[in-house]
Amino acid sequence: MYHLQKFRFGKARWFLFFAALLSFSYCTTDLPTKPTDGTKQAIADSLMIVTSHPLAVEAGLEIYRQGGNLFDALVGVQFALAVVYPRAGNLGGGGFAVIRTEDGSVVTQDHREIAPKAAFREMYLDSLGEVVDGLSLRGHLANGVPGTVAGLLDIYKDFGGEVDLQTVLAPAIRLAENGFLVSEVEAERLNRFQDQFRKYSTRPNPFSQKKDWTVGDRLVQPKLAKVLKAIAEKGKSGFYQGWVADSIVAEMNRGGGIITYEDLENYRPVYREPIAFDVDEFKVFSMPPPSSGGVLLQQMFHFIDEGNLCCEDGWDSESAHLLIEASRVAFALRAEHMGDPDFMKFTTDQLTHPARLDSLWHFFDPERVGEGQLFIEKDMVLPETWETTHTSIADGKGNAVALTTTLNSNYGNKVVVGGAGFFLNNEMDDFSILPGLPNQFGLLGSEINAVAPGKKMLSSMTPTIVDRDGELHMVIGSPGGPTIISAVFQVMLRDFLFDMNPYENIQKSRFHQQAFPEETRIEENAFFREVMVELREKGHDFSEIERMAVVKMIKRTLEGKLKGAGDERNPDDHAQGTNSCCDF
Ligand code: GLY
Repeated sequence: MYHLQKFRFGKARWFLFFAALLSFSYCTTDLPTKPTDGTKQAIADSLMIVTSHPLAVEAGLEIYRQGGNLFDALVGVQFALAVVYPRAGNLGGGGFAVIRTEDGSVVTQDHREIAPKAAFREMYLDSLGEVVDGLSLRGHLANGVPGTVAGLLDIYKDFGGEVDLQTVLAPAIRLAENGFLVSEVEAERLNRFQDQFRKYSTRPNPFSQKKDWTVGDRLVQPKLAKVLKAIAEKGKSGFYQGWVADSIVAEMNRGGGIITYEDLENYRPVYREPIAFDVDEFKVFSMPPPSSGGVLLQQMFHFIDEGNLCCEDGWDSESAHLLIEASRVAFALRAEHMGDPDFMKFTTDQLTHPARLDSLWHFFDPERVGEGQLFIEKDMVLPETWETTHTSIADGKGNAVALTTTLNSNYGNKVVVGGAGFFLNNEMDDFSILPGLPNQFGLLGSEINAVAPGKKMLSSMTPTIVDRDGELHMVIGSPGGPTIISAVFQVMLRDFLFDMNPYENIQKSRFHQQAFPEETRIEENAFFREVMVELREKGHDFSEIERMAVVKMIKRTLEGKLKGAGDERNPDDHAQGTNSCCDF
């Protein structure tokens, strides 16, 4: 340790000082011009954040260091993601949070978008009753009323507030005003969707200011900064009323959208009881409807309960068959019975009731793929690229949040709100726009999930928190449409069975089975070759998919350390804690 009073500038020291200054100025001109990939694993004692961009993690850590609590930090992370991760971070979308406080209580918050008041069941059909291609995906009719800002501000009000709202939004405002260097993936996506930004946005926007984005280009978003300042100053009314609401409604009017002032003013997030169930010594808390995630997790864990699952280095064919079939049945139930809870015929308790699940499981044949397809065969709809994002955050006291947020597809409906600089979602496609017809994820749905005014569209987002013997054990979630459920399930299962290191667990190849189509989608090496042969003999079909869900997880060790792990599937994923270190 040095002492300032002992530091005197003699001649030699002046020389060293100037040399150091020179080398410093040399270094500054030599600063990286490209963003670095995120760090995929870290360990910390007091606060751990894992999300899909290093600058968003830094925003959270900055707020925490300034005296904010975990919830203040989380809200700052999410606003920063809206700036630095525009393909999924958002002000114009919605999401779900599972929130654990240090006393061990868990609640969920639903800030999912809702259908505007003027929405109606046939709004995406032509006069012949046929679906108008792309209408629920792109352009001004595709978006639900955004819930993100209201949701985050309620979390800040109800759980945070150790620092003022200005402090919470300061990093996001700075990043929007000064700009940030786009990553390789973001540059590629911005280029990929350029034509659509131009086609569907009615005013110039920062994302179309260049035709060819390259890694390291600076993206500056002054209009978004103005919106963030309005929120920092006025809270919810800075977004849902005033000039930002004027901009959204004007955008609707220019582009033929239907969101009104009334829709915006009436938006309210909802706190809901979590889906909660035990798996051995673990207690799982996950998202209830309008997300299907928690219910499907509970169903799948129930179906495999009696199974003899093996092995840590890869599933054997018996286990793989059981897991695929459990997923098939759960997704079939999803399609038939799930949607906005206000419209569901069965309650979540009924959908997860052990006797009911047992009676459905009786058709399970350990030797053959299940018959009993519930659906009319239709051509598979190939997914347009979809994107969502997730933050896992935990502190040493037992507070934790799993928050998944989305615009649905990459950059939502591709409409940037004129004068306000943020994308709107295309969440309306998560409704069954024509019951029986698959959506962009190939997911089927029933009347329960048909479009109706003020209704919420069914989601697959699965933010989840797990306790072990009453202590926080895991915070987990992921983007990836319906593959979220499969990924969260498979990572949790490997953790429960094999107590795997979270980073290694996340990188394992995964599979996804959603009842329709019948085939199981697999990442490379999801199953050993001989296992695939045996599965094919049982009647399974497979198709390979390059990348599925991108998991972000925190696991608390028995010693109380927080291990954060991001997914190599997204180079931007980043895990970092307040005093994070490298000893895994
Ligand atoms: N938009 C994807 C989901 O909510 O599942």
